[in-house]
Amino acid sequence: MDCKKKILGLTALSMIFSGGNFVSMDIPQSVYAAAKTPRFTVEKANDYIQAHKSEVNSRWYPTYHIAAPYGWVNDPNGFSYFNGEYHFFYQHYPYESKWGPMHWGHVVSKDLAHWKHLPVALAPDQKYDVDYTGGCFSGSGIEKDGKLYLIYTAHHETMSGKRTETQALAVSSDGIHFEKSKKNPIIKVPKGNDFSAVDFRDPKVWEHDGKYYLVVGTKTTDKPSLGEIMLFESDNLEKWTYRGIAAKSDSVENGFMWECPNFAEVDGRDVLILSPMIFADGQESHKVVYTIGEMNYETGKLSHGDYDLLDYGFDFYAPQVMQAPDGRCIMIGWMDNWDIPIYDSKSGDGWACMMTVPRELHIKDGKIISTPVKELESLRQTETRYQNLNLNQETQLDGIHGSVGELLLDVDTKASQSFQIKLRSSAKEETILSYDNGIFKVDRYKSGVGPGGMSEVQLAPSDKLKMQIFLDKSSVEVFLNDGEAVISTRIYPDESSQDIVFIPNGNLKIDNVAFYTLDKGLE
Ligand code: FRU
Repeated sequence: MDCKKKILGLTALSMIFSGGNFVSMDIPQSVYAAAKTPRFTVEKANDYIQAHKSEVNSRWYPTYHIAAPYGWVNDPNGFSYFNGEYHFFYQHYPYESKWGPMHWGHVVSKDLAHWKHLPVALAPDQKYDVDYTGGCFSGSGIEKDGKLYLIYTAHHETMSGKRTETQALAVSSDGIHFEKSKKNPIIKVPKGNDFSAVDFRDPKVWEHDGKYYLVVGTKTTDKPSLGEIMLFESDNLEKWTYRGIAAKSDSVENGFMWECPNFAEVDGRDVLILSPMIFADGQESHKVVYTIGEMNYETGKLSHGDYDLLDYGFDFYAPQVMQAPDGRCIMIGWMDNWDIPIYDSKSGDGWACMMTVPRELHIKDGKIISTPVKELESLRQTETRYQNLNLNQETQLDGIHGSVGELLLDVDTKASQSFQIKLRSSAKEETILSYDNGIFKVDRYKSGVGPGGMSEVQLAPSDKLKMQIFLDKSSVEVFLNDGEAVISTRIYPDESSQDIVFIPNGNLKIDNVAFYTLDKGLE
């Protein structure tokens, strides 16, 4: 690998990243200078959303995936269980469909399938969490003694570009209204030269043996830097002790900054999930990886294996996990990505970006497998099913079409080593799923008006291919072989492109195919 080329690549991307997101604000100096009272409050955000939500164009707006009622969304935050409900928050700029000073949007669900919007939970209204720009950056949530605790990154950025990141706490008794702690910021970057004092964000909290632990993403001070995870410990969620670097990237290929660390227990193993800025050869950036290992709570170090991808699609970043009351590890990701200009922001539709469906994580043969949570079956309405089909020409099946639905397919890949399925198809558009001798691809070059591109994954050898596909107007999520691989992709087709077409290359032997129309899951 040409080292120079790689480092140049990193510089360019980090510039695009900071230029494209964190400092994209265009606030007139007069407004900034006059801002004695908070420019942003929860009340202002909620009033604005109420006044504007009817302007949202529904053509690509999801029906059962989480999105904001109005405005911009990025990372999942504060995913937790409190008072008998799943609470899910998200990075949110309610005033426009582009990134701006971050608020926390909020939805709630009893069953992980039907979600209801709640008022905005946090606004950047304190001097530690906003200046010229900044905001309540990503963080997590946990229940303690009948209260819901949110710990987030207070990102403070002056007009001259001086950035400070600290961690702050907000607490709620009713799960709706949150009060920021008077002790904020509760964690400042510890003294030392091992890590950056500027990139220090995205706390993920969990409980272990009666104590609380928290990981924060950071990077070394080397040039180029390497991603790192810092570990903190607490008895009460307010006073934290720095325990050290729990894990560190061993090469630039594994990320120059690790964002949104998640620590989870999956089937008795410890799993670290990371959103590295740059992964692999410098070409693929903003991927999500995991590594399986063992946390030594005495030394504060995680011993772990290799890194693997959690999703092979274009649109998957910054996922957050939570431990459900029944012990399952459940994950929701942001179904968009910083690397490609986000089409929602250009569409003029009044909203931008959405989440994936909730996925359940397990470990099989040393790898994470992720499957849609069982509860999503409660969205199923009408069923159309066919069995033992042998197709030898392009075929559409009665009852199997649409822009919203769930498609299940079992294909005999011994008899059919190569085939295609076109989704959201019409004379002018198509999103092509293809299988060819173990290689599965999703091609969105002709999907509609959004960005093109092709995602692919090499599957383990098998005589069967099982697909579970979720369609929701502007998204396609494909789960392969019960979670062996997942591909998540946003698409922007015309509303009239509704066909689903099966295209054999020779013979297509389908053991089972079922299509479900789905209930509206987002209110
Ligand atoms: C990841 C991220 C986080 C940060 C947030 C800001 O997408 O950059 O590191 O907290 O977005 O919105």
